[in-house]
Amino acid sequence: MFGRSVRRILIASAFGLALIAARQRAVLHPAPPQITNGPTFSNEVVRVFQNRCQSCHHPGDIAPFSLMTYADAAAHADAIKYMTQTRQMPPWKPTPACGDFADARVLGQDEIDLLAKWADNGAPEGNVADLPPAKNFDGGWALGQPDLVLSYAEPYTPPLTGDVYRCFPMPTNLPADSYVSAIDIKPGDRQTVHHVIAYIDTNGDSQKLDEADPGPGYTSFGGPGFSLNSLSSTLGGWAPGARPAVLPDDVAMSLPANSRIVLQVHYHPHGVAVVPDQTQIGIYFAKKKPNKIVYMLPLINQNFTIPPNNPNYLVSASYNVALPVHLYLVFPHMHLLGRKMHVTATPFGGNEQCLINIDDWDFNWQGQYKFSQPIAVTAGTRLSLDAYYDNSTDNWRNPNNPPKPVSWGEQTTDEMCISFFGFTIDSLFATDQPPSATQIFRAVQ
Ligand code: HEC
Repeated sequence: MFGRSVRRILIASAFGLALIAARQRAVLHPAPPQITNGPTFSNEVVRVFQNRCQSCHHPGDIAPFSLMTYADAAAHADAIKYMTQTRQMPPWKPTPACGDFADARVLGQDEIDLLAKWADNGAPEGNVADLPPAKNFDGGWALGQPDLVLSYAEPYTPPLTGDVYRCFPMPTNLPADSYVSAIDIKPGDRQTVHHVIAYIDTNGDSQKLDEADPGPGYTSFGGPGFSLNSLSSTLGGWAPGARPAVLPDDVAMSLPANSRIVLQVHYHPHGVAVVPDQTQIGIYFAKKKPNKIVYMLPLINQNFTIPPNNPNYLVSASYNVALPVHLYLVFPHMHLLGRKMHVTATPFGGNEQCLINIDDWDFNWQGQYKFSQPIAVTAGTRLSLDAYYDNSTDNWRNPNNPPKPVSWGEQTTDEMCISFFGFTIDSLFATDQPPSATQIFRAVQ
């Protein structure tokens, strides 16, 4: 797949036009002298970079350049103005009017204006005495040493070019059911690991897939290649720059005894040196036995065919929630034709509430979103999703040329239509036997 490089060219060419326009204006009016009484790098600007950008923009991490020093940043001042004003940076897909998420990577208008003013003033450095202490990215775990760290026994070296989705099953060897309040991911090769999803395998299917595929792990693009039918199917996803989501003290995800964790790692090599990768997952167990378990269930439609050359094809799914629940997490998932995803909750006889809306879906920036406050959902509420797909040649991510009919499947050229929910059941305590998935979520035909 060539997705990101093409997108970068598109961004670069839009930006190039803006630059040409700026240069033409400069011919008519000579460039103004640097203004020194506005925001400076050393005072205001570096603080925005520390809070909002450096988690990805530091040497050796996923972003293509660093924003640690004045020299790093000044060279990119105009691009910084453009990418923040157009809200392409920091990458954050949910639209602001819908859903309230913890750790949202959304700049305030004051921050955007500050960066623009700094660029317009000629990107002044200011007084180095104003610099805050530099942030340290020594690769440590954000939440401190995890209780359990797992990685695949051998490192895997992805090819020099082309995206690879590789799954690594790892036995947990946990003798009893365990309760997880957070996970964190430490990529081996930060420049190449683009995102990671942690699946749970309770019956050993992933081990068979691994044995059937030469080399460490096995390749599987969409899901992990085996069916996820228990209530505990994933521990969540990770993308660069993400802070680990910690569940409140009295709730936790369950990790069944002796299960395997399957890390699905998306490698996006840049055609330069790739190094062997051994991505680690760090698991933080609940400090005390939780009151409630966060279960994961998908709102899902597997019966669709997206006709070729349709640029805006709608696929929907609706489930009735049979028991009162609280929603903690939402995790939309589509492949390369997906463009928009709109997820709502409508109480019986009540008004629709928007849970998450993504109107510029990017497979490469998917993730799990944690609500700032858990959302109470009454029995009889309808959870619905509307997903839109662009199966035309105008969609530069379209893996089929010419476009062809596309249905549900695991391959790059297939599609998916899912929104996972992480939720607790109000009437159920951690010690209770959970009801079956269909007793909680009932598909509406
Ligand atoms: C979550 C990680 C992440 C964060 C946070 C982030 N960036 Fe980026 N940035 C990237 C990646 C990755 C790219 C390369 C393009 C891509 O993959 O979309 C990039 C590219 C850029 C580009 C170049 C765009 C181009 O292709 O020409 C600019 C400018 C930029 N970022 C500025 C910023 C600024 C300013 C901030 C903070 C306000 C920021 N970024 C925060 C990951 C991040």
